[in-house]
Amino acid sequence: MDNNTLLKIKQLRAELEEHNYNYYVKSSPTISDFEFDKKMKELQDLEKSNPEFFDPNSPTQRVGNDINKAFKQVKHIYPMLSLGNTYSKEEVSEFYNRISKTLNEPFEIVCELKFDGTSVSLIYENGELLRAVTRGDGEKGDDITDNIRTIRSIPLRLQKQNIPDFFEIRGEILMPWNVFERLNKEREKDEEPLFANPRNATSGTIKLQNSAEVAKRNLDAYLYYLLGEDMPSDSHYQNLQTIKQWGFKVSEEIAKCKNLNEIFDFIDKWDIERKKLPVATDGIVLKVDSLKQQQMLGLTSKSPRWAIAYKFQAEQAETRLNSVSYQVGRTGAITPVANLDPVLLSGTIVKRASLHNADIIKDLDLHIGDMVYVEKGGEIIPKIVGVNKDARILIGEKIDFIKRCPECGTPLIRKEGEAAHYCPNEDTCAPQIKGKIEHFISRKAMAIESLGEETINLLYNQNLVKNCADLYKLTEENIAPLERMGEKSAQKIITNIQKSKNVPFERVLFALGIRYVGETVAKKLAYSLHNIDALENASFEELKNIDEIGEKIAESIVNFFKEEKNKQLVNDLKQAGLKFAIDEKTLQNKTDKLNGKTIVISGTFSLHSREEYKEIIVNNGGKNTSSISSKTDFILAGENMGPSKLQKAQELSIKILSEEEFLSLLK
Ligand code: IVH
Repeated sequence: MDNNTLLKIKQLRAELEEHNYNYYVKSSPTISDFEFDKKMKELQDLEKSNPEFFDPNSPTQRVGNDINKAFKQVKHIYPMLSLGNTYSKEEVSEFYNRISKTLNEPFEIVCELKFDGTSVSLIYENGELLRAVTRGDGEKGDDITDNIRTIRSIPLRLQKQNIPDFFEIRGEILMPWNVFERLNKEREKDEEPLFANPRNATSGTIKLQNSAEVAKRNLDAYLYYLLGEDMPSDSHYQNLQTIKQWGFKVSEEIAKCKNLNEIFDFIDKWDIERKKLPVATDGIVLKVDSLKQQQMLGLTSKSPRWAIAYKFQAEQAETRLNSVSYQVGRTGAITPVANLDPVLLSGTIVKRASLHNADIIKDLDLHIGDMVYVEKGGEIIPKIVGVNKDARILIGEKIDFIKRCPECGTPLIRKEGEAAHYCPNEDTCAPQIKGKIEHFISRKAMAIESLGEETINLLYNQNLVKNCADLYKLTEENIAPLERMGEKSAQKIITNIQKSKNVPFERVLFALGIRYVGETVAKKLAYSLHNIDALENASFEELKNIDEIGEKIAESIVNFFKEEKNKQLVNDLKQAGLKFAIDEKTLQNKTDKLNGKTIVISGTFSLHSREEYKEIIVNNGGKNTSSISSKTDFILAGENMGPSKLQKAQELSIKILSEEEFLSLLK
């Protein structure tokens, strides 16, 4: 063993964690990002060439990994209770008086912000993060340690001395507003469903099976509760100050109150001030400060008697509806938007609110000039929740959903079973054309950096670009004279467009924007059919026979290639030099060793992720299905194979292969 190397590794780890702490907990970095990255790279290299020194709590592990494993269920040491809710100061007084009566001695109440995210329990042993578990049903939760390690404000190894050997600490995982807004913008672009609020975005993120994805989401955490046998102090307030010393992120906004008035002052202050915070809060938590007194008060089966939550009212405002406008998306879907008299709501001026679809407008029985109630719970997009019919003096014109596209005048259609109206004029309806080009250049598609919504707008208005293929005909001379451009920008744009010719086939296929052909489907199609000609010539039946391709997708592909203009577009893009066949290198990993074999994957794996196994099966000619039947040839089983699957396999005498056995089959 090389002691010097280990020493160096340990030193780098400690140093990098210290910088993480300064940056993510104290918000006061002491080195530049460049220096930080350099040290990180040094550590990564050392760890790579000395794998015997691997440590799951090394700062290098904060980027996560894509090994796919179902979460293990873990029993909580102390059950994770919830809190009783109150919505008025009267109820807070009742809580206070009840405590006063039961204790019959002086006491203090700690007031904290109620953070609106996902609660988590962290276990530390010998100063290191051992385990992180979700609340679950309060008794047991999911082991999400890998995901939690990616949160940089959570210490993986405590740097301070005199810390208990074993303790539990609880807190809230949060997605800051700015991260949430950025994530939703990206999802909107990729036509993925939006998260309604940061709470949903946090719980959705924390449940991801791929910690590398979690790492990209920039979650944060505030800790608010220390539990254990040997507590540093009898005062909860003091304990929070102590855990702050240990390196945990604790809110600065905590008050110890001696009477009800002080509590009310805290509530009133934060009902307003919270709107300026970088994370979502939905109330105040009141806790009896003394742990001894907490014990005297005890618990009910659901919540402690020594704490309570006061919830802020979801903010509502009343304002006038002036008009309804309609937006057209890239697929032609129409979104109705209410234009309102500006009104102050949750710290921002609201002028517009989403009306979702025709049914919602009808249910609200909306008329122009109506006084409407607008609400902005945790949601970013305010919504209209009702009409103040008493305020209707003169009744305005009834809002009838438009019949024609607001952009091109084409009569709208509404498919059976769908809530949205569509403009069917894909060819000349401007927002649809521009939307398709924006999708084409987006990050997960052709990733043409330096082109964005505004530039596309410019190019479209100048008649320079009418479809994706036109991008490849652009010259620097075309772009440089445009508004806010210049030679440098023009050069950059052209270089990036040229670079996109190296984007692999599966992403080009996704970029085409064929309805229902998302990122994963495009990959699947590219791997099974290898090139665009095979895709174009595939029949509905052939497509449907491809694993995971259903009727809806197959129909959409067939329809796409039925249209002459789409064939033309593909041809033009081919001429431009884009990749329309899968790379040789990707194909080299392919064999026909699994030809005709139907394989079910079950359990959790350690050598490859589940996604990778799926890809390996497809690449080697096999078919991956989800349920076991007489047609299944064998099961690729990792750890913890589901009991019902095991039973079924035994009943049908289907062979079960381990990861190692499966991989050696392919050698
Ligand atoms: S203390 C037994 N403090 O609110 C007391 N909880 O409905 C344990 N929460 O599950 C909780 N901010 O997820 C506490 N400052 C805070 C909190 C807080 C948010 C959440 C937590 C809990 C829920 C209770």
